[in-house]
Amino acid sequence: MARILFTVRALALFSTIHIAMAAVSPPVTTFFPTIEGNLTKITWAHAVNNSTELNNALAKADIMMLEADIVLGTLNDDSSTEQIPIMGHPPANKSDLSLEQFINTVAANGKKGVKLDFKTTEVFNQSLSILAKLHKNMTFPVWLNADILPGPVNATANPVDARSFLTGAHKTFPESTLSIGWTTRYGSADNITEGTYTSGMVQRMVDIVSSSNITQSITYPVRAAIVVNSISEMQDLLNRTSANNPTLTIWTGKGDDIDTDKLSTFIKTVGVSKVYIDLPEHIIEKLDISGAMSLRLGAMTITALVLNLAIAMVL
Ligand SMILES: *[C@@H]1O[C@H](CO)[C@@H](O)[C@H](O)[C@H]1NC(C)=O
Ligand SMILES: *[C@@H]1O[C@H](CO)[C@@H](O)[C@H](O)[C@H]1NC(C)=O
Ligand SMILES: *[C@@H]1O[C@H](CO)[C@@H](O)[C@H](O)[C@H]1NC(C)=O
Ligand SMILES: *[C@@H]1O[C@H](CO)[C@@H](O)[C@H](O)[C@H]1NC(C)=O
Ligand SMILES: *[C@@H]1O[C@H](CO)[C@@H](O)[C@H](O)[C@H]1NC(C)=O
Ligand SMILES: *[C@@H]1O[C@H](CO)[C@@H](O)[C@H](O)[C@H]1NC(C)=O
Ligand SMILES: *[C@@H]1O[C@H](CO)[C@@H](O)[C@H](O)[C@H]1NC(C)=O
Ligand SMILES: *[C@@H]1O[C@H](CO)[C@@H](O)[C@H](O)[C@H]1NC(C)=O
Ligand SMILES: *[C@@H]1O[C@H](CO)[C@@H](O)[C@H](O)[C@H]1NC(C)=O
Ligand SMILES: *[C@@H]1O[C@H](CO)[C@@H](O)[C@H](O)[C@H]1NC(C)=O
Repeated sequence: MARILFTVRALALFSTIHIAMAAVSPPVTTFFPTIEGNLTKITWAHAVNNSTELNNALAKADIMMLEADIVLGTLNDDSSTEQIPIMGHPPANKSDLSLEQFINTVAANGKKGVKLDFKTTEVFNQSLSILAKLHKNMTFPVWLNADILPGPVNATANPVDARSFLTGAHKTFPESTLSIGWTTRYGSADNITEGTYTSGMVQRMVDIVSSSNITQSITYPVRAAIVVNSISEMQDLLNRTSANNPTLTIWTGKGDDIDTDKLSTFIKTVGVSKVYIDLPEHIIEKLDISGAMSLRLGAMTITALVLNLAIAMVL
């Protein structure tokens, strides 16, 4: 009896150590078990694109994920004109923080996950060698994000090349979560107040995912004000990419007029185990998502339960 107990405990201990030491880019639900699979509980810091913003975000215990943009440019204090991946939002092409410094700082902290938003194919291609070099140290959730298809409403911005992005992310960082979305043209800057993600857009995304043979997890970033009009299209998208454990990540453009009643309904309908909410606090406050549909326990939670049960039975 004692021997069995010892074995079970040793196995449990071993698996814990193994996960703690080795797992590159663990799933968000594993890294942050306190959310108990309710993805809406994940908290975000936005535009973490210089050292001040990074240090501020890392110092906040209640922040879980850091969202940051990457462009090609030069470092402020560097006289070199060589263009490297730096943290910054277009049109910026100078920063006090490179992608490499950003990742090393997050790795040393060890408590947050990252969503790296690559703005062009060029900067993504040039970032792959950095990601490969730092791969082993990235033992926190890593999302690689890009807009890879043209989206609502008749968006004209150049998407990141879908094939280059999917192939590069898969080869260099197969553990990462792919965050792949559509470009958008919407809001006060574009004078557009009506929009939907159409079934045609969903179809093109499904096609590109299936033809790329990607098996890693996918989250689809969607713009709040638009996606509230596209519940059935989004359910169809999740349904048809079910092999990739798909989720949605809701974001917003600055100043977008979001119907928070419709957004609450959207989140409850799709389910809190399927939707991340990367929105400013003043919008989150207006949501009512309590009593959302039943929530599936994450695989890790179930494993832990089974293990506890096993120990209890031996005792
Ligand atoms: C970092 O960015 C914030 C927000 O854009 C800005 O207020 C701050 O001055 C910047 N700090 C540095 C060191 O560039
Ligand atoms: C960082 O993000 C803030 C907020 O989006 C923006 O105002 C600022 O220009 C950005 N800085 C760089 C270097 O991209
Ligand atoms: C960087 O941005 C500045 C200001 O927009 C621009 O004048 C300059 O040409 C840009 N540098 C490069 C290398 O693109
Ligand atoms: C990016 O890399 C892919 C794969 O190596 C290549 O096919 C593509 O032409 C590159 N694109 C740019 C803009 O560098
Ligand atoms: C990985 O992290 C360790 C410990 O902080 C550090 O010594 C090492 O240089 C890092 N590896 C790379 C490639 O930066
Ligand atoms: C988008 O394109 C469609 C079809 O060409 C057109 O009917 C519609 O007015 C356009 N909408 C906007 C906001 O540009
Ligand atoms: C925005 O669109 C409305 C209605 O389509 C139009 O009346 C108005 O002139 C437009 N404003 C600008 C700044 O383009
Ligand atoms: C996906 O797999 C199919 C069948 O094995 C193969 O023909 C195709 O070239 C693969 N596509 C990519 C992008 O690797
Ligand atoms: C998902 O697809 C299956 C099979 O095509 C279908 O039976 C089911 O109703 C779909 N579910 C949703 C939520 O669309
Ligand atoms: C999920 O989390 C949100 C935010 O904390 C909460 O309002 C909601 O009731 C939770 N839903 C479930 C089903 O646990």
